Amino acid sequence: MDKIVMKGGTPLHGEVEVSGAKNAALPILASALLADGTTTFRNVPDLADVTTMLAVLRTMGCEAARLSGKKADTCEISITGTITPEAPYDLVKTMRASVLVLGPLVARFGRARVSMPGGCAIGARPIDQHLKGLKALGAEIHLTEGYVEARAKQLKGGMINFDVITVTGTENVMMAAVLAKGRTVMENCAREPEVEELARVLNKMGAKVEGAGSSVITIEGVESLNPVDHAILPDRIEAGTLLVAAAISGGNVLVKHARPEHLDAVIDKLREAGCTITAEGGGLRCKAPKTLKSVNITTTEHPGFPTDMQAQLMALMTVSHGTSVISENIFENRFMHVPELHRLGADITIQGHTAVVKGVKGLSGAPVMATDLRASASLILAGLRAEGQTEVSRVYHLDRGYERLERKLRGLGADIRRVKERA
Ligand code: EPZ
Repeated sequence: MDKIVMKGGTPLHGEVEVSGAKNAALPILASALLADGTTTFRNVPDLADVTTMLAVLRTMGCEAARLSGKKADTCEISITGTITPEAPYDLVKTMRASVLVLGPLVARFGRARVSMPGGCAIGARPIDQHLKGLKALGAEIHLTEGYVEARAKQLKGGMINFDVITVTGTENVMMAAVLAKGRTVMENCAREPEVEELARVLNKMGAKVEGAGSSVITIEGVESLNPVDHAILPDRIEAGTLLVAAAISGGNVLVKHARPEHLDAVIDKLREAGCTITAEGGGLRCKAPKTLKSVNITTTEHPGFPTDMQAQLMALMTVSHGTSVISENIFENRFMHVPELHRLGADITIQGHTAVVKGVKGLSGAPVMATDLRASASLILAGLRAEGQTEVSRVYHLDRGYERLERKLRGLGADIRRVKERA
């Protein structure tokens, strides 16, 4: 198992490139199930979760692989032979987003058997809304032996009003409705840029999706869809994480390919904390202030402040001047990074789903443990500032969503490396 060893105190400088978006790549890879032939996706980040999704597609009988050499950011998925529409527990338990094959499978093959994703470190994360949406399109749903069994000779357009705003729920039902007979109207949908990106790909395949990016999506079902060649949009959460790296280290960094229109709420908070954020060269530059100011954060659905940036902003607030109140409203257990930040000398008090962060003069390096993807990023960010050495273990969490983050930070001057953890 790997761990990351780093020494803090170096202001980061230079340029860094953002990779393709994990949370767009996962539903988009699953959407390849909707069309015969070979689909090509470029700018696909090299992440553990992407590798798992490719494995899920292969277990069903697809040819699904990442190309090599100059095309190493490209994945090809070919559907030629018989598909066994099943996603096994062994894979789904490692990545709950595997559930995104459910909609495309039942729409395309009339049946799907997908393992129920269990709980997760950050919350219970049920999929009741995914199933509610598929039932509204006429699918029969049974839960047996830990699996969702969905069946429908032909899905029919319908009306869905989500009880809660769900990103992958919206995506799963979209991918089912594109091949349903008639019109589907989905209300209270997620408006994340990744949902819009999936709609872009589906429409390129020949679907008729309107309104993605708003809370009402309307879909006219079509008979069939075609394979496409598509480059995936940049990862706004990785971009946000790199902007915070510049801020917490007292540096000045250009994050290339970062899209301002996808990061409004994050940019607002960084500016409020005193950073200078400017659009430049097709990216975003972050210049840190002499003293960071504490700001309050409330996580909500897009376009509000993303829960996937909460831990990273908390790391920044640990060394800001003043007191910051951070409310996590999306997941019920997303403060696992707090006890680890305490180990670095942070002053944080948790009250229910709110954390009160009192800024301290400095942090001091220590061994800490990653507990989930974004928590691991927050520990690395705190390590960039902490005096002395910080060691972050269980970085397999980090590799699920960041493509060689330590190499990118080293390119900006950070003293950071990955080492094998002795057993
Ligand atoms: C997506 O997860 C992202 N993952 C998450 O990113 C992100 O944190 C989350 O959206 C919120 O932005 C992917 O896109 C692969 P939700 P998802 O369904 O779709 C409740 C990261 O760090 N809910 O929008 O699983 C749920 O429990 C990851 O990259 C139901 O109650 O999240 C949660 O409280 C972590 N019933 C809330 O809704 C349902 O059927 C939002 O969850 C579905 C969700």
